[in-house]
Amino acid sequence: MVNLKTSIGGLEVENPFILASGPLSHDGRAVLRAHRAGAGAIVTKTISSVPAENPVPHIAKVGNGLINGEKWSDLPYERWIEVEIPLAKDGGATVIASVGLSSGDVAALARPLARAGADTLEVVSYDGKALVPMVREAAHQVDIPVFAKVSANWPDVIDVARACLKSGATAITAIDSIGPALRIDVTRRAPVLGSGYGWLTGQAIFPIALRIVSEIAIATGAPIVGTGGIWKVDNILEMMMAGANAVGICSLAILRGVTIFSELAEKLSSRLRDLGYHSLKEAIGVALPALRSYERIGSGLPAAKEAANAAFVLNEELCPDCGVCVSICPYQARVSPREIDPARCRLCGLCSSACPRGALELKVGEEDR
Ligand SMILES: Cc1cc2nc3c(=O)[nH]c(=O)nc-3n(C[C@H](O)[C@H](O)[C@H](O)COP(=O)(O)O)c2cc1C
Ligand code: SF4
Ligand code: SF4
Repeated sequence: MVNLKTSIGGLEVENPFILASGPLSHDGRAVLRAHRAGAGAIVTKTISSVPAENPVPHIAKVGNGLINGEKWSDLPYERWIEVEIPLAKDGGATVIASVGLSSGDVAALARPLARAGADTLEVVSYDGKALVPMVREAAHQVDIPVFAKVSANWPDVIDVARACLKSGATAITAIDSIGPALRIDVTRRAPVLGSGYGWLTGQAIFPIALRIVSEIAIATGAPIVGTGGIWKVDNILEMMMAGANAVGICSLAILRGVTIFSELAEKLSSRLRDLGYHSLKEAIGVALPALRSYERIGSGLPAAKEAANAAFVLNEELCPDCGVCVSICPYQARVSPREIDPARCRLCGLCSSACPRGALELKVGEEDR
């Protein structure tokens, strides 16, 4: 196995898979189950001064993801401090205690959670402006690492991350669920969730999470737990290459079971080996030099396709002539896997990216970047 150890703002973990805060860490027993299944660390369900009451129903499957109206932990904080965290720690789990949702809650709970054995605190809020003083309070109260969890729902998310780091956060967890979002049950003519609107997680949010992770990495250089939409082993690598030191996983573990942690460890190890890496740490941030040249959306390659110095390369051995590349071409330019109509082809790249076998590569000349 390739060495998968990583460190995140003062927290050392055996592997980069962090079970993100959610229903799979609803109590100490659940935390232990994820630990035994191979998670490098587990973030508890968010602990607050008043236990949550959740609407019915509050989690629904949406494609390769979820919509949820679930609030914070429904257990009293005393229970976490006296029973659940000590139980998880006794069983050997690395515990990140999620704490919210106001400065008062953090002032009351940060120190008792650390004393109960939490290895790290993760501070979370629905409101970006409120998060910064909460982080400052946590950093003042404890001497264990403090992570700040940020949300893509905040337009100034990168500024919030920067301010949290200045206020004592040792790492950033990015991102939380996206929303509000909505699904309607057409037979009942009503929302699928008891809360009406809810929060979206899972595969659909991955590209947004990845973009925010890369921007925080570029803006701050801080350690990051890249969270949101991880669905397969290459998503983990993408997060690491965009600057994450570890990845948070929630929806995938809910929908596929906690056994995914050991499967992911094996797959990640062999993928890293195939790509020529000897350890996971070597892959952290390696895509950032390429990303720095894209200062903002649309500022990428020159518009003129002639200047792109691009060419298609077909691996004949991998191609069974399935026809996907031809039928998917939106400009009716692709005649076959081997042939395009150059007058019609805009070099959009879709045929290559949609090839189910990875047989069709669009090579773009490096000198034109
Ligand atoms: C049902 C559910 C409950 C969640 N509860 C919390 C929570 O209590 N605190 C928190 O910080 N994040 C919570 N999250 C957000 C996750 O920790 C994570 O940031 C988000 O789901 C994105 O990751 P994913 O796409 O891998 O699920 C919850 C997510 C889900 C699906
Ligand atoms: S989509 Fe890929 S495998 Fe299918 S015909 Fe085109 S190049 Fe071949
Ligand atoms: S690059 Fe785009 S336009 Fe060109 S053949 Fe492929 S799908 Fe069609």
